[in-house]
Amino acid sequence: MLRGMSDEATREPRSFYRIGRLPPYVFAEVNSIKAEARAAGKDIIDFGMGNPDAPTPEHIVEKLREAALNPATHGYGVSQGIKGLRKAVADYYERRFEVSLNPDTEVVVSQGSKEGLAHLSTAITKPGDVILVPSPSYPIHPYGFIIAEASVQFLPKDFSHPDPLAYYITQLKEALENSVPKPSVVVLNYPCNPTAECATLEFYEEVVAICKAYDVVIISDLAYCEIYFDGNPPPSILQVKGAKDVAVEFTTLSKTYNMAGWRVGFCCGNPDLVYALKRMKSYLDYGGFLPIQIAATAALNGPQDCVLETRNRYKERRDVLVKGLHEAGWMVDNPAASMFIWAKIPEKFQELGSVEFSKKLLREADVAVSPGAGFGIHGDGYVRIGLIENLHRSRQAIRNIKHFLKG
Ligand SMILES: Cc1ncc(COP(=O)(O)O)c(C=O)c1O
Repeated sequence: MLRGMSDEATREPRSFYRIGRLPPYVFAEVNSIKAEARAAGKDIIDFGMGNPDAPTPEHIVEKLREAALNPATHGYGVSQGIKGLRKAVADYYERRFEVSLNPDTEVVVSQGSKEGLAHLSTAITKPGDVILVPSPSYPIHPYGFIIAEASVQFLPKDFSHPDPLAYYITQLKEALENSVPKPSVVVLNYPCNPTAECATLEFYEEVVAICKAYDVVIISDLAYCEIYFDGNPPPSILQVKGAKDVAVEFTTLSKTYNMAGWRVGFCCGNPDLVYALKRMKSYLDYGGFLPIQIAATAALNGPQDCVLETRNRYKERRDVLVKGLHEAGWMVDNPAASMFIWAKIPEKFQELGSVEFSKKLLREADVAVSPGAGFGIHGDGYVRIGLIENLHRSRQAIRNIKHFLKG
């Protein structure tokens, strides 16, 4: 080794308090096997990510191009987002949910909903606060708060329960009644990543009533509200009368318009929470690149047939995968919304757990999925299959899996 060079591969990184609160990434093991297999020339069919594979609709890209050609858009923006975009979000809520929002006090634009979720967590938390998060869940839901030094209390999901929403309500009430200190925030996510479960308006009504009674704040993540399949548009918690007294909701353009890389999300609802996020962001950023915000405004205000196309594309994939997996003997649940199938590991592999099962599937069927344990220990009997491969590759995956399950 040359003098002065350190051996990066073996060096233990210096430890930092906050980084120590972030455990190693559960997906890393599966990802490294995936990388090895690809390096060896294998064609891995990858259902492991939640990254939309289709391009952003042309009229939105065109608006970006046009706005970027105007030098006046190249300077700093404003961290809360441009007024036109906040107004477009308020109009969307009115159209889609019949919810009225004040674009100045009840809407803030974030750089993707993940950034907003993370910074709102920091903005409203003091060390030791108790936060109620479902398990399994999308990682930023607990880790935004863990980074903020909260104490996260997981509410485990019971997938064998005949009424999972009623089960959640029981768990929520118990936690609110018995936790010391009293919880300060409840996190919800329906349609859910990773489980694809959906909520009803009645469920939200109950949660809002409970949280009001216990003076607890609600953060609802509605990232998949436009990706639904059987004619049942998912509701918004803000449709509940008085929800704005306690709740904010995050939405995003990432999935609805295939704009994951553009980083445009929104936090809407309770003005105190919206203000907290705005205030936090005013210290941290200047908002997204203005041409992106202008194109995002065009996405929300423009023609919506692209949303229907996106929905249909995921629905077709869902239909092919669910039918094919059933024919292969893997009786997965049929998701009503989201980009995911939450699949119980087949009986004969149950004792492997989700990480080992995912590795086996990758090595023996050339199919990558996300191990459920990556979303919390209560997900360990499951894997998440993303609807992100085209029909041809989804069919190929089914043939591979059929062969794998027979072997
Ligand atoms: C439930 C959920 N919330 C938020 C996000 C992040 O979305 P964004 O691209 O807006 O940061 C995702 C992304 O996969 C998600 O699944």
